[in-house]
Amino acid sequence: MSLDDARAVLTNATRITSFSGAGLSAESGIATFRDTPDSHWSRYDPTRLASPEGFADDPDLVLNWYGDRRRDIAAASPNDAHRALANCPAVTHVTQNVDDLLERAGASDVIHLHGTIGADRCHAECGFRETIDMADPPHRRPCPTCGAPMRPAVVWFGEMLPADAWEAALSTIEHCDVLLVIGTSAVVYPAAGLIDVARQGGARVVVVNPEASGATGDADIEIRATAGEAVPILLADLTQ
Ligand code: OAD
Repeated sequence: MSLDDARAVLTNATRITSFSGAGLSAESGIATFRDTPDSHWSRYDPTRLASPEGFADDPDLVLNWYGDRRRDIAAASPNDAHRALANCPAVTHVTQNVDDLLERAGASDVIHLHGTIGADRCHAECGFRETIDMADPPHRRPCPTCGAPMRPAVVWFGEMLPADAWEAALSTIEHCDVLLVIGTSAVVYPAAGLIDVARQGGARVVVVNPEASGATGDADIEIRATAGEAVPILLADLTQ
């Protein structure tokens, strides 16, 4: 099916949910996790950088790496796909991305399954959390409430997804007519399982990705293009 067919499916839908991954922000210059030779994960062992064990072993390595990512995101701008999504009131946004580019494009109520890199939280989960300046990220410091280490408010390997985000994602995806899957390898669970939830609820699945992915087998329509190329066209009839 063509881009025009997919556009017609979206135009005729009432409830659209977007489900995005790192590919949505690739054209903003934010490296994805698994694609590129110099991607964020390839230079380091991910379990050293994004796990409670890695943080316990070498907190400065972890925080410096997050500091680099935070500065990259602060310097980046939303791309055409972020803007098209944000300007489309019919779309609810569920993302695996920890960046704030959808919000900076004007989207509200974005469901962040893997947390947000623009905040720190207490590693001991005393409840303290604060927004940080991504252009000037903090170094190692104790939680002002309980003294445990502060850390990025993102989900690390081996950690549970935030229950409120997971429940909100399930609720919107169970009831959508179309799930628009954008720029995800769809290999990281439980998030990737949401595509199956949409199918079981009777939704059509439209996938935007220049490559085959874990979502390919679940796609009713697959558009092999970048997010910046395809999403503005797909949503053109629905944007404000
Ligand atoms: P990945 O890096 O695994 O996959 C990125 C996907 O985006 C790939 O399928 C690419 O083909 C596609 N892609 C690349 N450029 C694109 C573009 N311009 N437009 C559209 N698609 C493009 O990223 P995620 O699927 O987001 O988890 O990874 C999922 C999770 O893995 C992340 O949230 C992170 C990581 O572990 C946590 O941090 C917990």
